Amino acid sequence: MLTLKDLHVSFNGNEVLKGIDLTVNKGDVVSLIGPSGTGKTTLLRCINYLEKPSKGEISLADIHLNYQSIRKKDVLNLRRKTAMVFQQYNLFKNKTVVENVMEAQMVVQKKSKKEAYEKGIEELEKVGLQDKINSYPSELSGGQQQRVSIARALAVEPEVILFDEPTSALDPELVGEVLKVIEHVAKSGMTIVLVTHEMSFAQKISTKVAFMDKGRIVEEGPPAQIFTNSTMERTKEFVKR
Ligand SMILES: Nc1ncnc2c1ncn2[C@@H]1O[C@H](COP(=O)(O)OP(=O)(O)OP(=O)(O)O)[C@@H](O)[C@H]1O
Ligand SMILES: [Mg+2]
Repeated sequence: MLTLKDLHVSFNGNEVLKGIDLTVNKGDVVSLIGPSGTGKTTLLRCINYLEKPSKGEISLADIHLNYQSIRKKDVLNLRRKTAMVFQQYNLFKNKTVVENVMEAQMVVQKKSKKEAYEKGIEELEKVGLQDKINSYPSELSGGQQQRVSIARALAVEPEVILFDEPTSALDPELVGEVLKVIEHVAKSGMTIVLVTHEMSFAQKISTKVAFMDKGRIVEEGPPAQIFTNSTMERTKEFVKR
């Protein structure tokens, strides 16, 4: 479904991804864990080409690309098949909740206003915000805003949703409601790549966990292998914390 092969990324001559290979199957929930500055966000951002790798290949559904010969059309195709949920929700402040969820559907998918609205309502119901459709982001809690951004991601029916620490900007008491929604999305069969520091959550929902350190995937496997049965010192030391 999604494959990355020998991915390399440098910033100003400093290589931060040093040959990443990753396979994500349809319906997988793959969690990326690891210390700060290790390249987790950079890796996610390569999947929709927000970051330009110096080398590597990507396959996503029917797209197969070499990053060194990528064209503008390819970038658009990649972005049509992915949706990203950021730490800082990134909602339009001057648009209502439902307008936020309609925007990409109309601009990227060229849906009519009516279609986008109906799909928007459907997805907002799934995240429990049907009574907030006409509110503005500033009228919502952080947890509710993040649920809007999840509805927005679902609404474009991507092949894969990329979550980058979706709960780390939230007050502790709001984390649970967002994790519950993500768990629900995972159970619906959506393919997910998730960067998280919520270890027990990663352990619970992932089909696969990849532990990254210093620009490399050190170890990957089922949650039980990474969190309880790892034989690698670096992994053991990280998950112990
Ligand atoms: N635009 C950029 N320009 C220069 N360096 C960058 C840029 N983006 C990231 N880096 C560097 O690349 C490395 C990897 O960063 P990245 O944000 O991917 O780490 P991370 O694993 O997501 O960390 P965290 O857990 O703190 O979010 C870091 O050393 C970071 O400083
Ligand atoms: Mg990050």
